[in-house]
Amino acid sequence: MYSFENDIQYLLADEKKLAEICDRLAQEITETYKDSGRDLIFVTVLKGSVFFATDLIRRIPMKCELEFMKVSSYGAGTSTSGFIQVHLDLKRDITGEDIVIIEDIIDSGKTLEKLSHLLADRGAHSVRCCTLLDKPDRRVVELNADFVGMEIPDEFVVGYGLDYNEKYRNLPYVGVLKPEIYSK
Ligand code: IMP
Ligand code: MG
Repeated sequence: MYSFENDIQYLLADEKKLAEICDRLAQEITETYKDSGRDLIFVTVLKGSVFFATDLIRRIPMKCELEFMKVSSYGAGTSTSGFIQVHLDLKRDITGEDIVIIEDIIDSGKTLEKLSHLLADRGAHSVRCCTLLDKPDRRVVELNADFVGMEIPDEFVVGYGLDYNEKYRNLPYVGVLKPEIYSK
């Protein structure tokens, strides 16, 4: 029988490693906000971050809210040009709230940069970013996440929410996709 796992070149993070990352990030986030006295709102960027977000926030023993946004970024590689298109927006006011954006991966950094500015402009008290994966070699804008699960090399990865053409999200681990799959 054909297994879609044959399309994976090598494994980057297995289920144990992903659980360790979630444990550590949950501790870092809890430590950061435990005495804030404000509500904490997680803004999960659809679709890739959903698996990570649900695993992460279940480990955070504080009152918090879970929201979703769907966005895409366009435009040239500088921080001032280009724009963000919002496909699904928050329904609530975030004035004065602490926001943690949950991303699956930071590549160029454009999406997260524009999304953080958008939320800050809406009057959030603070906007921080938590990403499962970070590809620092690919960055074209000045942007660093506040909470980083794992730095990875410049390879195309799938699994644990990350897709190639909407497929492979349901792999329980993160792996590098064989280049012949996307050069077909
Ligand atoms: P950025 O704006 O270039 O940082 O783009 C980030 C978005 O690109 C992520 O949220 C992913 O949807 C997508 N992306 C970047 N690299 C990968 C990858 O290796 N696998 C799957 N999706 C990726
Ligand atoms: Mg994404």
